[in-house]
Amino acid sequence: MSLTYKVLSSFLDQADTPISGQTLANQLGVSRNSIWKVIEQLKAEGYQITSIPSQGYQLKHISSMLDPNQIMYLVQDHLPDLSIIYADWVTSTNDLAKSHLIEHPKQTALFISNHQSKGRGRQGRSFHSDIQEGIYFSLALPSETYSIESIGLFTIMAAVAMAKALEKNTEVAIKIKWVNDLFAGGRKVVGILTEANANLENQQIDAVILGIGINVVGDFSKLDPDIQKVAGPLFPHPESAHFNRNHLLSDFLLNFYSYLHVLPARPFIEEYRTYLLGLNQRVCFTKNQEKRQGIILGINQDGHLLIQNEVQEIESLNSSEIHF
Ligand code: BTN
Repeated sequence: MSLTYKVLSSFLDQADTPISGQTLANQLGVSRNSIWKVIEQLKAEGYQITSIPSQGYQLKHISSMLDPNQIMYLVQDHLPDLSIIYADWVTSTNDLAKSHLIEHPKQTALFISNHQSKGRGRQGRSFHSDIQEGIYFSLALPSETYSIESIGLFTIMAAVAMAKALEKNTEVAIKIKWVNDLFAGGRKVVGILTEANANLENQQIDAVILGIGINVVGDFSKLDPDIQKVAGPLFPHPESAHFNRNHLLSDFLLNFYSYLHVLPARPFIEEYRTYLLGLNQRVCFTKNQEKRQGIILGINQDGHLLIQNEVQEIESLNSSEIHF
């Protein structure tokens, strides 16, 4: 654990009580100067820390910008082995997670960033990832037990975990467009890209890479017209975007892991249905390269979409784009 993490934890544990630089230095076994430097760093990261004469430092405001130390503090009791790596600027957090797994094949790690220069979406599409407009992150999940068939369930678990975390932290109502898009106010505000390192010899998965991009704010009117038609920000008025990004991510992680721990029971399927966009509505879809229509009935236990077709039969889709 870094000194910054330890100092921040002491402040967060202390709540409103001031703590002297000397006490912190003694507790953490470092010099007062080292404590002072960390406090200056925390201030630069958006924490408001005041000095009260003869009492010490007091944390007055917690930063709401992405901070790996704050996320770690929030999830530490449940996910002590998770490494959290933050970078201001990356190509793609999914790519970082993949490279990390090559060197550390057994380490669960979270990569977070405020900007991606080559954000990737499904089916080879790019994902708009402009600086300070969104939250971009990937979880590298090594495994010896996930089967190739279970991959789709990671997207389902992540979608519900994120929908719940967003509703709790932003009070914006969320819907899930099967299978991996979260919508708010009629716009796609979150995209999920699940990738896997497969071991074809034993039909097992060595690791799952789960990448999520959240459009928090931003002017989408200058983007490619195809993106504009569908995507938008969670907060069309940036001044209303008052939420702590670290609380959102830690809630997502805790929700996601609560599902992962009981994967065989699949409690998230029922919850996914409650968020499903277009339930009982007619949609267009493509199956076996044929354009078709049907009514959305829900999803099955494998996360496949259930559709009632034109001749009243129930079909399941495991990969197709649906259009309203
Ligand atoms: C989609 O909508 O097609 C999926 C978009 C997934 C975007 C996220 S952002 C974090 C992670 N890194 C990437 O390059 N892609 C995913």
